[in-house]
Amino acid sequence: LARGVREPDLAGRHVVVSAGGTREPLDPVRFLGNRSSGKQGYALARTAAARGARVTLLAANAALPDPAGVDVVPVGTAVELREAVLRAAADADAVVMAAAVADFRPATYAGGKIKKQDGQEPAPIALVRNPDILAEVSGSRARSGQVVVGFAAETDDVLANGRTKLKRKGCDLLVVNEVGERKTFGAEENEAVILGADGSETPVAHGPKEALAETVWDLVAERLGRTDP
Ligand code: CTP
Ligand code: CA
Repeated sequence: LARGVREPDLAGRHVVVSAGGTREPLDPVRFLGNRSSGKQGYALARTAAARGARVTLLAANAALPDPAGVDVVPVGTAVELREAVLRAAADADAVVMAAAVADFRPATYAGGKIKKQDGQEPAPIALVRNPDILAEVSGSRARSGQVVVGFAAETDDVLANGRTKLKRKGCDLLVVNEVGERKTFGAEENEAVILGADGSETPVAHGPKEALAETVWDLVAERLGRTDP
């Protein structure tokens, strides 16, 4: 093989990647959202396709061009993303939740634009919890041997928080990023530790999001290697 060309170690596999950030509408013109650019999820989709996988990319509000050879499914809200993930996961070998999913959504949607009222304070916005898609997919593997991967941005004791989250979610791998000023959101580069449910810890040096994506697929391929495509 030429240098830089990888073995198609994901050939015959179907992988599902969520990317971007969900938007939870308040009224026809406003939403609660987050700063996820979608770059890490798109890098995961591109690299998986280059390694021979059939890729379904569930794209939540990412302003990025569709990667070549990838099946792109646009989604808006966490509830829509959940439906799309469960549908695509039915025959998937791996599910990677790189999307930033809103934890809460407005309890009610105003069908008309919310207007200011003269002399009145604004009404508080009541929120309700969104479903935890990663925990649900991890707990109800549609296929035996399906590999489920989550992402977490943490501050403070990043690794301890990551370990606790990995257990709570029940996924196989959790990519843990440290967040802070200028770190992660919208950046071209990333730095992480990938925690495995088997106790493994794989550090990924600061570098392009593609490099982190390749390491994620290395770990996924290693786990899939034990089962036939
Ligand atoms: N996730 C999900 N559904 C949600 C929230 C998060 O599937 N409702 C997924 C994300 O896509 C990510 C992982 O779970 O892969 C971790 O997200 P994170 O926000 O760190 O986890 P939370 O359980 O929401 O914890 P926290 O209270 O720290 O935000
Ligand atoms: Ca969250």
